Amino acid sequence: MDLEQSPLLPKDSVLVRQFNPSDASQVQKVYFTGLVNGVNSAGYFAITRAFMYWTPMYMAYLLLLCGGGTYALAPIRDVRTLGLVAVILPCVFMLSVYYRIRTTFLGYYRSGLRRDMSDIERYYRLEHEKDGHLPRRFWVAEVPSATSEGGYEVVGCVALDCSPKTDHEPMIGELKRLFVLPAYRKRGIGTKLMRTLISYAKEKQISLLRLETTNFQPVARELYGKIGWTYNSTTYSDFEAGGMKMNFVEYRLSL
Ligand SMILES: CC(C)(COP(=O)(O)OP(=O)(O)OC[C@H]1O[C@@H](n2cnc3c(N)ncnc32)[C@H](O)[C@@H]1OP(=O)(O)O)[C@@H](O)C(=O)NCCC(=O)NCCS
Repeated sequence: MDLEQSPLLPKDSVLVRQFNPSDASQVQKVYFTGLVNGVNSAGYFAITRAFMYWTPMYMAYLLLLCGGGTYALAPIRDVRTLGLVAVILPCVFMLSVYYRIRTTFLGYYRSGLRRDMSDIERYYRLEHEKDGHLPRRFWVAEVPSATSEGGYEVVGCVALDCSPKTDHEPMIGELKRLFVLPAYRKRGIGTKLMRTLISYAKEKQISLLRLETTNFQPVARELYGKIGWTYNSTTYSDFEAGGMKMNFVEYRLSL
């Protein structure tokens, strides 16, 4: 369940439209939140898993508790020192787990920046097709701003990328960068973004769409299943959080 409160949105106040350069900083916020630290992001799932559902972490909590008690109550100095060590060790362990997970997801975030997210206008530019390239598009979902009259807030995004076309293979479109800010979830915005992408892909005669998600994104996977995407394959990664390996899962949708 989302932890943040959803503001009340008037019906039909969500507009899905193509990206324009003035959206860039707001899209960066949606991207970072959706990937690294927002509720239900893969980064958030990994941290939650490691700190709430992992036996070594329970042992660290126990050691911390015992160490703290010993340090506070033991009458003998050497025993108190032992208690202090028993406090420091689990703290170091927790910090290292947090650091490792955070670094991994910041790495994914940065690799997205290097690929398409630092200059969305250039990568997904509207003239892309006119130059004979395959269709690429980036859409945002905007709602009226709660703070400035006449302003808007970008609360979600999605992108369509395309693999190079060959004579033997059909054109495959790739759904990427589907994110909705936590406070605006469960209002159909993710579905609306995805439907916009699907109808555009049909218009461009793309017969097959693919996407890659992870087993750390159960909410997204539920949404994909609901829209009709089907599981295609799994690629295993070395990354592990809370005793669970992260897998990259590919889904496909025939149009
Ligand atoms: C996945 C995501 C984009 C969905 O956005 P959204 O606007 O909440 O989606 P919708 O409101 O259209 O929800 C559609 C369906 O998704 C599922 N869903 C959405 N939020 C859910 C939640 N918190 N718990 C369980 N299922 C949920 C439900 O099946 C829902 O259908 P329902 O409302 O009829 O129950 C959003 O949760 C998100 O940004 N997650 C983090 C980033 C991410 O994982 N992106 C995917 C990258 S591969």
